[in-house]
Amino acid sequence: MAPTTPYKVLAVCLGNICRSPLAEGLIQRKADEAGLNWQVASAGTGNWHVGNPPDPRSRAVAKENGLDISHQRAQTVTSTLLEEYDLILAMDRQNLTDLKSRATEQQARKIKLLLDYTELSKTHGPDVFDPYWDDSGFEGVYRLLEEAAVKVVEIGNKK
Ligand code: 4NP
Repeated sequence: MAPTTPYKVLAVCLGNICRSPLAEGLIQRKADEAGLNWQVASAGTGNWHVGNPPDPRSRAVAKENGLDISHQRAQTVTSTLLEEYDLILAMDRQNLTDLKSRATEQQARKIKLLLDYTELSKTHGPDVFDPYWDDSGFEGVYRLLEEAAVKVVEIGNKK
């Protein structure tokens, strides 16, 4: 039997070192646990950190929670990624605007604001807070992304 093609999910933030690597790791883990054939990746709208592993603070909070994201390397959003991925999840409204400005009309339909898509914006507001400038934010971002990852997989499971 031919292997089925995976459902491809791309998490996007600004630097691809703090938020979206955590989102990638968490969504991939929840999808794997649910037995889904999902391929999850992440990218940044900016290119400052291309080739770098996730921020040590993101790696640390992931590790504390039994999640290893240290193999990841930052990449920039490209038209190829926008074409190849089935669902593209922006961490905040600026990321969403930047993504849509680079996307074709057809690609733009696949781009969602993570917290709107998961309906967590009703309780948490629209944006996954950027923790880069403040060490104290990483734990909260992890918890929020964990909640969001559960919902993303639930929504995907119903499709
Ligand atoms: P991220 O956080 O978008 O969650 O990866 C940031 C990382 C780096 C920078 C900004 C935000 N930066 O300006 O270098």
